Amino acid sequence: MLRRIASYLKGYEKYAAASPLLVILETGCELTIPLLMAQIINEGILKEDMAPIWRAGALMVLVAVVATFAGGLAAKCATSAAQGLGANLRRAEFEKISSFSFADIDRFSSSSLITRMTNDVTNIQNTAMICLRILIRAATMLIASVVLTLAISPRLALVVLVILPIMAAALLGLMKVCMPLFENMQKALDHLNETVQENLIAVRVVKSYVREDRERSKFMDANDGFTDAGLRAILRMVAMQPVMMICMAAATVLVLYFGGNMVLNLELDVGYLQTVLGYIMQILMSIMFVGMAILQYTRAQASIRRVFEVIDAQSAITDGGADRLPAPKGRVEFRDVSFRYQTEGAGEDVLKNISLDIKPGEFVAIVGGTGTGKSSLVNLIPRFYDVHRGRVLVDGLDVRDYPLDALRGRIGMVLQNNVLFSGTIRENLLWGSENASEEELVQAAKDAQAYDFIMSFPDGFDTSLDQGGVNVSGGQKQRLCIARAMVRKPAVLILDDSTSAVDSATEGKIRESFRENLKGTTVIIIAQRISSVQYADKIVVLDEGTVADVGSHEELMQTSEIYREIYDSQQEGGEGNG
Ligand SMILES: Nc1ncnc2c1ncn2[C@@H]1O[C@H](COP(=O)(O)OP(=O)(O)O)[C@@H](O)[C@H]1O
Ligand SMILES: [Mg+2]
Repeated sequence: MLRRIASYLKGYEKYAAASPLLVILETGCELTIPLLMAQIINEGILKEDMAPIWRAGALMVLVAVVATFAGGLAAKCATSAAQGLGANLRRAEFEKISSFSFADIDRFSSSSLITRMTNDVTNIQNTAMICLRILIRAATMLIASVVLTLAISPRLALVVLVILPIMAAALLGLMKVCMPLFENMQKALDHLNETVQENLIAVRVVKSYVREDRERSKFMDANDGFTDAGLRAILRMVAMQPVMMICMAAATVLVLYFGGNMVLNLELDVGYLQTVLGYIMQILMSIMFVGMAILQYTRAQASIRRVFEVIDAQSAITDGGADRLPAPKGRVEFRDVSFRYQTEGAGEDVLKNISLDIKPGEFVAIVGGTGTGKSSLVNLIPRFYDVHRGRVLVDGLDVRDYPLDALRGRIGMVLQNNVLFSGTIRENLLWGSENASEEELVQAAKDAQAYDFIMSFPDGFDTSLDQGGVNVSGGQKQRLCIARAMVRKPAVLILDDSTSAVDSATEGKIRESFRENLKGTTVIIIAQRISSVQYADKIVVLDEGTVADVGSHEELMQTSEIYREIYDSQQEGGEGNG
């Protein structure tokens, strides 16, 4: 896993390599200071000689300056490396997510994807920083201090051997206790993020149902959960402090006791006693820091796993390999198609044995109750999902054999819950086709009955839309979405319940302009109102995922009970809006 993470340092390797070297230099400099101190005491103070004090003092200043520079540079390199690592990980995740099919996004959920791109990456970044600086520093300190203590007085080094196992045992115990606590903390954070994101995405719905109080208490629960989990983990860590303090104090007492005896027996210079004491403190501190770095790494492991889960996800839907594509005519065939969603628990077929043949230029309507699979059916055409059994063909070629952009380029799709993006109306329409001319934009806007209201805005096509298109009405938004799909001049135009918020008269005009201006285009529309579909060449009645009946309005009125039922219900109760 570490090697895998390291491969994402690409472009920042030199920082990642320089940082440990600089840390080692910094630490080395700091380690010589107690040695110089010993020289001042032994050669200078005890022998009452000023020269060694000057010499050692000057060296001390030099060493301190070098240490400061090395330290500063190390911090800079470690930061660059960690930030670079984060950027690379985010880029890899984003690229993968861009290739995700609808099914993949269903599987992860978009709020979890956001957490995985932000919080988890930050976690990894912080850990990289800690490993590059604190861990390297502590490890260098530890090794050098042990070596130096052994060199000065092997007997005093024995004290370390006594204290070390106690500290190591305490740290191991701490890690065992804290690991699951940190895991819980991360989960609680996930839950908190999920709550906030869901709430913000649906803020209008929350307000319209006056659910603020319920949502607030949901947030409070999640927030308290995170606080509790955090406190439990950190308090456990803090509880270890006294154990560490006792170890340090014990070590000091032992070193002073044995060392003092050695000085009295003239086995050790008093200056070195001071030095050894300094090194032994360094050893104990380093062990604590190593422990903390390991703890941080275990904490980050959950994040690393989550990030790689995204990067490694095999997108369910990838480009097909056909080398020759048929000319775009707009023919769509379903051959004995069955489909189910792969999400957990949903094992049932949503569509069962669907066979349909939609000819180029045909105007086809799909009707049926909610949840009968209308949206699922049309989502198979641009291959947002793959069929479970059977085949979907566009212009005679299986959709799975098309390169995705070639397939989707021939299809204009207005989704059931479509959105506009922040930017001007013109920019939004150009999503349909980047190279569309001004006349083409105007024509598409006119066909979608959007031209008049666009021109009624002071800035016309340059009117800014807020994210999601919140500053236009529902019906205007739907018409802009239709215009955007039409700019593409698709061979197949699919409207999934895209005129539900448009009044019947305007809808009638849109239908008329389709008839006149989209002669060669296959149009597939899903609609709730029979009045919107009765002029279609062919009406498909879906019922519980199967094709119940197919025919023209007149034919279906004769033969289809379901169709007649829908028709009658709309005659009595006015328009059945979905
Ligand atoms: N992303 C999804 N994941 C799992 N099940 C889904 C998903 N989308 C729709 N469904 C289920 O598939 C069935 C058909 O839905 P849909 O095609 O949207 O119906 P319609 O458009 O006719 O209202 C419903 O039972 C719905 O619950
Ligand atoms: Mg639907």
